[in-house]
Amino acid sequence: MIGLFDTFARPLMALIEAETAHALAIKALKFAPLPLPAAEDTRLAVRAFGLDFPNPLGMAAGFDKHAEVPDALLRLGFGFVEIGTVTPRPQGGNPRPRLFRLPRDQGVINRLGFNSEGADAVLRRLAARAHAAGIVGVNVGANKESTDRIADYVRQIALFAPVASYFTCNISSPNTPGLRDLQQGSVFDELTARVLEARDRASACAGRKPVLIKIAPDVTLGELDDIVNVARRRRIDGMIIGNTTVARPAWLREQAIAKEAGGLSGRPLFKLATRMLAETYVRVEGAFPLIGVGGIDSGATALAKIRAGASLVQLYSALVFRGLGLVGEIKNTLRDALTRGGHPSLDGLVGTDAAAMVTEKWPA
Ligand SMILES: Cc1cc2nc3c(=O)[nH]c(=O)nc-3n(C[C@H](O)[C@H](O)[C@H](O)COP(=O)(O)O)c2cc1C
Repeated sequence: MIGLFDTFARPLMALIEAETAHALAIKALKFAPLPLPAAEDTRLAVRAFGLDFPNPLGMAAGFDKHAEVPDALLRLGFGFVEIGTVTPRPQGGNPRPRLFRLPRDQGVINRLGFNSEGADAVLRRLAARAHAAGIVGVNVGANKESTDRIADYVRQIALFAPVASYFTCNISSPNTPGLRDLQQGSVFDELTARVLEARDRASACAGRKPVLIKIAPDVTLGELDDIVNVARRRRIDGMIIGNTTVARPAWLREQAIAKEAGGLSGRPLFKLATRMLAETYVRVEGAFPLIGVGGIDSGATALAKIRAGASLVQLYSALVFRGLGLVGEIKNTLRDALTRGGHPSLDGLVGTDAAAMVTEKWPA
C-alpha cells in the first residue's frame, strides 16, 4: 500500500501546488484502507515523560493540524503523532500561497500562520477516538489577535487534558508576530508557571499529562541557558528542539524560493537543529527527555539526532520528498544500529555525541 502510493501518487503530488497536495494527502489518509502495522521490535520501545512509546519516531506538528488522521498515521508505523498547532478560536492563517517546496535543497518554507479549525472542532475529533490506542500529543498555540496569549495555552490545556497523551506548547512559530517572545526571560517563566498550574489542576480528573515546550533553533545560546534554567526549575516534562528556522543558509540552491518569508524546514535545517539539540542536551543534564526534530530524512539522520541527545524524534518535511516508506527505513536503520552495538534499547545511544558536538565549529 505504502509502496504503491510512493511509486505512483507521490511523483504526481510533486507537480501540484504544495498546500493542495497536502490537502490531498490528508484526504487519502482519511479514506485509504490501511492495514494494521506490523509488530514492533521491542528494542525500539522508549519510555519517556511517563509514557510508553512503541518506537521513537513521531509525526511532527503541522502535518495533521486539525486531528483529522492521527490513527491513520499511527497505522503507518509512527510511534506517536503530534496534532496541531491548535488555536482556541478558529482562524484562517496567512493568505495563500504560503507553503513552498525547495526541491533541489529538499527543504520547505511555510508561513501558514496557525491556520486552525479551532479547539472545539479538534476536541470533538479527539473525543471520538478517546479510547483508541496510540500516543497522540496536542500541540497548542495562541490566536493571532489574542490579548493574553498565555491564557490561550492555559485554556487549551484545561480543555484537551482528558484526550491528550501529552501537550506541546508551541512558542516558536515564526509566523505569528511576537509569538517567539514567549521564549524570553520573565515571560517564559510566567508561561511555564501558568501552563503547569493548569495541567496540575486538570490532573485530578484527567490524569497527569506531560507538558513539553517547543523552541526555535534560532534562539541564542544565552537565551537557551535561560530557557533551560527555567524549564528545570519549573520541572517541565520535556523540550522539543526545534521548530522551523528564519535563517537562510547561503548555500541554498533554490535562492529565489528562499526569499519567501516564513520558516525553513527539511534537509537545510538539519545541522542547525541538531547542534541546538546537543546544546540543549548538555544543559539539561538528564533532568528531562528531549525530542529531536528538524531535517531528519534517513535512518542515519534519525540516529544522529538520538546521538545528539534525542530520546524521541519527529519529522515532517522529508515525507514530501521521500514518501511514507521513510518510516520503515528509519526504524530498520535504528534496529540495525542496536544489533551492531549489542544494545538492548536506544537508551544507550542517547546523547553519546552531544559533548563532542558542542565543541565543533558552529554550522554554517
Ligand atoms: C508545512 C509545515 C507546517 C508546520 N506547522 C507546524 C505547527 O503548526 N506547529 C508546530 O509546532 N510546528 C509546525 N511545523 C514545524 C514542524 O513540526 C517541525 O518542527 C519542522 O518542520 C522541522 O522538522 P522537519 O525538518 O522534519 O520538517 C510545521 C512545518 C511545516 C513544514
